[in-house]
Amino acid sequence: MTSFPNVYENYLPEHVQPPSNRNTQEEYPPPYPSAGGDYPPPYSSVGAGQYPPYPYPSTASAQYQPYYIPAQGPTHPPTQITQRNVPHQKPARSCSPQRKTYCCVISLFLTLSALGIGAYVILRFVKDSPTGSSSSHCQAVVTRCNGISECADNSDELGCVRFSGTSSQLEVYGWQDKRWLPVCYTAWSPSLADKTCKQLGYRSSYQTQGTTGQPSSSLVVNTTKQITNIQSVLSNSLQCTTKETVSLKCIDCGKRIKTSGRIVGGVPALLGKWPWQVSLHYKSRHVCGGTIISEDWVVTAGHCFFEDEAFDPSKWKVYSGFISQRQLSGATLRYVSKITSHRSYSSDTNDYDIALMKLQKPLEFTAQVRPACLPTYNQEFPHGMACWITGFGRTKEGATSTSDILLEATVNIIGSGTCNRRRIYNGAVTQRMICAGKLSGGVDSCQGDSGGPLVCEVSGTWYLAGVTSWGHGCARINRPGVYAQVTQLSNWMFSQMEANSN
Ligand code: ARG
Repeated sequence: MTSFPNVYENYLPEHVQPPSNRNTQEEYPPPYPSAGGDYPPPYSSVGAGQYPPYPYPSTASAQYQPYYIPAQGPTHPPTQITQRNVPHQKPARSCSPQRKTYCCVISLFLTLSALGIGAYVILRFVKDSPTGSSSSHCQAVVTRCNGISECADNSDELGCVRFSGTSSQLEVYGWQDKRWLPVCYTAWSPSLADKTCKQLGYRSSYQTQGTTGQPSSSLVVNTTKQITNIQSVLSNSLQCTTKETVSLKCIDCGKRIKTSGRIVGGVPALLGKWPWQVSLHYKSRHVCGGTIISEDWVVTAGHCFFEDEAFDPSKWKVYSGFISQRQLSGATLRYVSKITSHRSYSSDTNDYDIALMKLQKPLEFTAQVRPACLPTYNQEFPHGMACWITGFGRTKEGATSTSDILLEATVNIIGSGTCNRRRIYNGAVTQRMICAGKLSGGVDSCQGDSGGPLVCEVSGTWYLAGVTSWGHGCARINRPGVYAQVTQLSNWMFSQMEANSN
């Protein structure tokens, strides 16, 4: 982490490095992405915000296909043929024998185009619908979130739960309405709260209560139904009888137990101040940071798995509850049982730069080892908000080693409008990213901080707003850090935690 005034003479204010220059700062060891992780992505013609059209397909290529079919279009545009037909023939409704081949080709293309456009429209339409995708091992007709598993991998029933608002209101994707709905507090119970949280990969629930609101539509618990997952016991209801809906928190998170002493000048962190910070060692070296989000799960960046071998959980160690890499003996060590990285992660654009690691053995929470909170899906971290970054990364752009001690720095959230300005990242910041830093330079995350937290305090609770992802150099003027935006990726996280909860 760089956190001192730092002015670079070779700073290019106007534009970013072209892709051909993107290797100049790459290096081994792997802490750092093999392909351009630290540079602004190329400003490709593919609309950064809309590609890929679907969040996390398990059949990625198949899902994207419809997007391209219309663009390619037929090789013989229909207009040419029509023009030739016009002068002497009435608009052909049937094909004459000599035109048969043409006609067939045209109809084939038209059909394909129509199918493509249709599929594209459907994809756009379901964009807001929950995770999981119909893959080949699904039944012919699949209804998302209806409580019935219709795919061999249960993918149609993943990502059906989310939390909204400051009260952490529980929302379930209603299969009938095809939209997210709150749950009536009537007939809700602590046991259902536990089951819902366990479904999402937590050990139990932490807090549940009724909150008043006037939802126009909601879901109600049907106590006579057999429970396989929360969606299986819910049915549509126009209103909740008591007007109360369910608020649910699955974990006691985002709290630090008082640390003794104070940071002056703000660089080295005190033990226990950032208890969710972990150091991820690959082949026994620190390569990335990470954040504890539950006893069993650590979130990090997708680009930390920069080579095939890195997907092997046995190559990794997760250290927590320490602040010096020289004193790992005092740290809590966990091995990894599962790595799941976002399928849509792109090393070209750094979009969807997120991954989860499941620990072989649950963490025991102490004053030094605790989880950060995941924000609710619609939680906002507004432009200008002061947040914190922490990590064992380099203290200077181009430094040869990472930091022995955990460093902290405060940074401001930079809205994507600003961050995408021509002089800043010129459109490279997608909806899955959030910028934070100082446009005047000098404070930033750097190589080795990746995967670590960008946390913001809201009413005494710390939320994980971002996961350290990329930046052009470190701490340069007009080149803030870019972080994977957790609010946009928490549904994916829940679906992964749910899919790997046993
Ligand atoms: N990609 C880097 C890593 O692997 C993190 C870069 C963050 N860069 C920045 N300027 N904020 O550690």
